[in-house]
Amino acid sequence: MISLKTPEQINAMHEAGKILAACHREIAQRIRPGVTPREIDQFVETFLAKHGATPEQKGYMGYPFATCASVNDVICHGFPGDKPLKDGDIVTIDMVVNKNGWLADSAWSYAVGTISPEAERLLRVTEEALYLGIEQAIAGNRIGDISHAIQVFAEKQGYSVVRDFTGHGIGSQMHEEPYVPHFGPAGKGPRLKEGMVITIEPMLNIGTYHARVDEDGWTARTRDGSLSAQYEHTIAITADGPLILTKQ
Ligand code: MF3
Ligand code: CO
Repeated sequence: MISLKTPEQINAMHEAGKILAACHREIAQRIRPGVTPREIDQFVETFLAKHGATPEQKGYMGYPFATCASVNDVICHGFPGDKPLKDGDIVTIDMVVNKNGWLADSAWSYAVGTISPEAERLLRVTEEALYLGIEQAIAGNRIGDISHAIQVFAEKQGYSVVRDFTGHGIGSQMHEEPYVPHFGPAGKGPRLKEGMVITIEPMLNIGTYHARVDEDGWTARTRDGSLSAQYEHTIAITADGPLILTKQ
């Protein structure tokens, strides 16, 4: 069942989203060569505590950290490790913030120092794909309209769209119905209604969309070792169109 949120509940999620957005702005200031993803993870824990919020990912299905930190060929769910980031890396930091029992979810890819033109273009196109998806997040449209807009654009730019991980409904639970693929035909899937809240979180690869998961059971990588990027917002469907709850 797809739950519809009241305006008050959407406001509560927006509070979580504003804290998350502020946290990403702080992370952007801190990402540079030599910093470890674990240090960023610890910064996030402290930042959220200061804002009366908690990291929902920590302990979720046994996930051990506040953030996911996915470097270079890691698509998603990378552990924030102790290996320092290097000049030229790209890293996606993903987190879910819980404020008073209501959640928001946002991932952002960051450049570490100076990155290659190829990596730069992947980041730019992936972010643009997210916003093209968001434009379709209007009452009366279907989930497939979001999926299709993202896939068509990403593939036209020469990238592949990850199949194995999708966006999702969100509220008091991290993963609610419906699921939101970033590929597939327009005009299919559940119809969007005022009060739905979903994530849109395209993961684009330079090479194949195929993924494999490391022995840690979490870290998902591109099978061909190519770079992967991801941008994610939490979006409420409102009478006035899509409301980005995690806007930075
Ligand atoms: N934030 C992720 C998403 O976008 C979920 C992370 S899975 C977890 O759906 F286990 F790390 F929490
Ligand atoms: Co996320």
